Amino acid sequence: MAEEGIVKIQYLVSLCAVLAVGAALTAAPVTVLGKATEKTPGVPHGLREQGKGTSYAPVDLKEDIASVIDRMKTAKPEVMKRQMDLLKERYDLANRPAKDATMSRGKPIQEGIRVALSKGMTWEKLQTMSPEEIRDKDAFPSGFFPLPHPNHPEGGMVFPQFHIEEIQKQEGRDLTRFDLDFDLPVHLLPEFPPPIYLTTRPDLGDVSQGKLVTLDNYYEFFNGILNPKQLEGLRLLVTTFPQQQFNQTEDRRTIRPSRGVTCFECHANGHTNASTHLAGDVRPQELRHRIDTPTLRGLNIQRLFGSQRALKTVEDFTEFEQRGAYFDGDHVIGTKKGANILERGSQVHFMAEFQELLDFPPAPKLGIDGKLSSSKATAAEKRGEMLFFGKATCAGCHQAPYYTDNSMHNLKVERFYKPRMINGRMASADGPIKTFPLRGIKDSPPYLHDGRLLTLEDTVEFFNLVLGTQLTAEEKQDLVAFLRVL
Ligand code: HEC
Ligand code: HEC
Repeated sequence: MAEEGIVKIQYLVSLCAVLAVGAALTAAPVTVLGKATEKTPGVPHGLREQGKGTSYAPVDLKEDIASVIDRMKTAKPEVMKRQMDLLKERYDLANRPAKDATMSRGKPIQEGIRVALSKGMTWEKLQTMSPEEIRDKDAFPSGFFPLPHPNHPEGGMVFPQFHIEEIQKQEGRDLTRFDLDFDLPVHLLPEFPPPIYLTTRPDLGDVSQGKLVTLDNYYEFFNGILNPKQLEGLRLLVTTFPQQQFNQTEDRRTIRPSRGVTCFECHANGHTNASTHLAGDVRPQELRHRIDTPTLRGLNIQRLFGSQRALKTVEDFTEFEQRGAYFDGDHVIGTKKGANILERGSQVHFMAEFQELLDFPPAPKLGIDGKLSSSKATAAEKRGEMLFFGKATCAGCHQAPYYTDNSMHNLKVERFYKPRMINGRMASADGPIKTFPLRGIKDSPPYLHDGRLLTLEDTVEFFNLVLGTQLTAEEKQDLVAFLRVL
C-alpha cells in the first residue's frame, strides 16, 4: 500500500512536470500522506487539486466545450455514485419526520440522530473517551468529519433539483449542470418555497404568498409593500449575474451558454434552499470548505458575514459576492466570464437594504427577552432551556435573544481525528467559524457551515462531544425540544 502510494506520488510529480495547465487529467489519482487513497472521476479545474499547484484557474482553455461536455457527462455517474456511497456510509438518510414539529410553513422536521457510529460503538461510550483516545482509536463518527462537495475536485455552485425545476417553469432558464447533481435528499432540506417575514411589516405575516419570488413575480408581489429603493434592491437580488459555472464562455458547466445565477437562486425567498458551493477563500482546492447556503433572515442583528470571511457589513458582502465568491476568489477568471460590478450607492446599498428587512420566523413561545415564556412552554422545553443556559454551556456562544454572540470560535474539531482525504476533500483543521444564530434554526437544515449535520439531534451529539459536556440521553432530547421552538 505504502509503496503503491510512493509510485503514485512519483507519477503525479512527473505528470505535473510534463503537462501544460488545462490539459486533460481524467481520473487523476489523489494522493495524500504517502497513501494512495482514491481515484477522482471527472477532471479537476486546472491543477488546483494537487496541493502546491497554482492559485489561478486556467484562462486559455485548449479543449473545446463539446469535448468537455462529453467527457464530464461520461464521468458523472461515477462521480455521483462515489458521493452517494459516502453519504450512505456516513448517515441514516431515511425519511423520518417528527410527529409534532414542523418548519414555519408546515414541512415536517426530520428527527433522530442520523450520523452513523462504527460497529460496537454507542454515544454513551463515545462521550466517556477523551479527544486523543477517540483520535487514536479512529472512533470519531464519519458524519462529524468535514463534508465534501458532490465533486470536490471540481467544486462550484450546485442547486437542488426542485429549485432547478421551478426556475425552468417560471423563467425558462436551465440551472442544470452537465457534470453533477445536488446530493442530499429533499426531506432533509429546508421547506420550499420558504415563507418571507419582513421586519417592517410584521402585520402581514408571510409575504411570499407560498411562491418562489423571481424576476417574474417580485414586482407584482412587492409593489405597494416596499419603498422604491427596496423594490429595486429586490429586483437586483432576483436578476442573473455571470458566475464561474454559469456563464457564456467555454469554461462553464451548462450545456447552453448561461445568463448566470441570481442571489435568490441559493438564498431562496431570502432564506436558503441548501444550495452548496466551495468557499472561495482557501487554496489548494482540497482544503476549501463545502459551504451550505446560510439563511439571510436576521442579517439586521448580525455583525459578521461569511463563515470565515468576517466581512463587516451586508453591503460589503453583497458587493464582494460578484467580485469574489462567484468566481472562487479569482478576479482574473471573473473578468473573462463577465463579472458584473455593482455600483455601491445605488445598487449595493439597495440590495443590502432589502436583505436587512428579512426577519427571523415567528417564535410564539419566546418572550421579548428571547427566552421561553413559562405559560406557553412544555416541561421538556423548559428543561432544555435550563440545560442550554447551564450544563450544556450552549449560551456561552449562542446568547439570547437571537442566540449568537456575533463572533467566531475555533471548535478545534481536528482534536478528534487524524487528517485524511475524503472524496477529494482533505479533512483537517477548519479554523474559526462564525457563531451562526439559532433563532429559527429548525427551518435551516442541514447544519454547520458545510451542512455535515442533518438533524438537530445530530448537532446536540456533536456539541456534547466537542464541548465535553457529558449530557444524558434524556438531557439531549430536552435540548432538542428547546432548539425546535427557537
Ligand atoms: C451558491 C449559492 C449562492 C448564491 C448564488 C449567493 N449566495 Fe450568498 N451565500 C452563499 C453561501 C454558501 C454563503 C456562506 C459563505 C461563507 O461561508 O463564506 C453565503 C453568504 C451570504 C451572506 C452572509 C450570510 C451570513 O450569515 O454570514 C450574504 C449577506 C449573502 N450571502 C448575500 C448574497 C447576495 C447579495 C448574493 C447575490 C449577489 C448571494 N448571496 C448569492 C450562497 C450563495
Ligand atoms: C464555543 C462556542 C460555542 C458553543 C459553546 C456552542 N456553539 Fe453552537 N456553534 C458555534 C459555532 C462557531 C458554530 C458554527 C460551526 C460551523 O459551522 O462549523 C455553531 C453552530 C451551531 C449550530 C448550527 C447552526 C447552523 O446554522 O447551521 C447549532 C444547531 C448549534 N451550534 C447548537 C449548539 C448547541 C445546542 C450548543 C450547546 C450544546 C452549542 N451550539 C454550543 C459555537 C458554539
